[in-house]
Amino acid sequence: MVSRVIPVGVFDLVIFGGTGDLARRKILPGLFRRYCSGQMPPDARVIGAARTEMSSENYREFVAKAVREFGVVGQGIDTDLEKFLARIEYVAIDACGVTGWNKLIKLVRSDVVRAYYFSVAPSLFGDLAQRLNIHGLTDEFSRIVVEKPFGRDLKTAKTLNTDLATYFNEGQIYRIDHYLGKETVQNLMAVRFGNMLFEPLWNSQYVDHIQITVAETVGVGDRGEYYDKSGAMRDMVQNHLMQLLCLIAMEPPSKFDPDAVRDEKLKVIRALDPMDPHQIIRGQYDGFGDGPSYRQAVRDAQSRTESYIAMKVGVSNWRWAGTPFYLRTGKRLKARSSEITVVFKELNHSIFGEQEDHHNVLSIRLQPNEGITLGVTIKEPGPGGMRLVDVPLDMTFAEALGEGSEEPPDAYERLIMDVIRGNQTLFMRGDEVEAAWAWTDPIIESWEARGDVPKIYESGSEGPEDAVQMMARDTRVWRKVSP
Ligand code: BG6
Repeated sequence: MVSRVIPVGVFDLVIFGGTGDLARRKILPGLFRRYCSGQMPPDARVIGAARTEMSSENYREFVAKAVREFGVVGQGIDTDLEKFLARIEYVAIDACGVTGWNKLIKLVRSDVVRAYYFSVAPSLFGDLAQRLNIHGLTDEFSRIVVEKPFGRDLKTAKTLNTDLATYFNEGQIYRIDHYLGKETVQNLMAVRFGNMLFEPLWNSQYVDHIQITVAETVGVGDRGEYYDKSGAMRDMVQNHLMQLLCLIAMEPPSKFDPDAVRDEKLKVIRALDPMDPHQIIRGQYDGFGDGPSYRQAVRDAQSRTESYIAMKVGVSNWRWAGTPFYLRTGKRLKARSSEITVVFKELNHSIFGEQEDHHNVLSIRLQPNEGITLGVTIKEPGPGGMRLVDVPLDMTFAEALGEGSEEPPDAYERLIMDVIRGNQTLFMRGDEVEAAWAWTDPIIESWEARGDVPKIYESGSEGPEDAVQMMARDTRVWRKVSP
């Protein structure tokens, strides 16, 4: 293989699905913000590609609108925006046909990093990969970025992996799970592996249990058609919650390098206990409050798809045997709140006599109000004997890092820049995705086989009462879902 010197950082990014919702809301505004932060080299280029016939000029108007709507920028945006737009091109293309490919060949440069973002239906991944190859648009420096859903079960995920592997090696495939791009998720690794304090206690001897909550206030909105075929298990648990669990439970990798990290995550997925599908709480939101019910939103009065899941998961390995991981996620809940909570065990013996239970609790807050809080027990101030009280040691990033600290980049913008840099640490490897489906498949198959009907829960509530009961049976409680 002939090696070439590629100017660092110069890239052509082609966004297939360049007029879609993800491009409009996340990818294009994210790129603009990176441009404003000086991370986009002067001769980098972004090429939108989609079916719609339009000129590059019209596409630039589309991009400008998207940036103004979702870019969250302050004063003086116009000069920057104009310069940014000068790097934008558009090609009307038929991903599975012949139209547009010649124009793309002329536009894309062969002496820079070429990244192709597949922001299209997974059914097009194979065709796109093939056409990029046939038209000579790739070499060993090219990358592709693929969006979830990466399959809907093990079989389809394997087919996708095989299709992509025909044209790209694993080091060129960037499977996005945008949760891995969230600031606090990476901070979780910094806290675990950058401090002496936590790691010695990070096991079943000291940790009573772990909770992972991803609560949303939004419903399925206009994604009903996709969502009703997926449900919370496929849409959230198989990927986002599973990734969070992996980062919490994995062994320390020997270095912060893509394969070292992903090897450890894979071991966690393989150590997950098989689930009894009957023990998982499935819920579906009703139409109380101000929106349609789930069934109205998906236009199926009989739908049995879950918009909520709560489950107790075991990790059978030396470190975690005996420490349950409680996961829950749902739509139309009381508050938007994503949090990982590590609840440490009670003291073996209290020298202070009869006191209420005191647990140290480490809470890692993903959104909103990102930050990490450690609950510690101290003496309640004042006279009157030794009374203990739990107080938070708060590490809210904005406060700790000061006013002037840069707003953390949105998950997508960080991940896109990692693609350009060629860093796969925060992307899922093919075997991880397959292992995750291998674990969720039997659960979903069992629900489908017996026609399981989810419990209805009130919109704006904390989810089905059964989830509370699940914890109560273990004499534990969920953390409150609060903004
Ligand atoms: C997506 C799911 O992957 O993540 C959506 O498909 C969900 O259903 C979204 O709403 C949540 O992401 P975030 O970043 O808003 O928590």
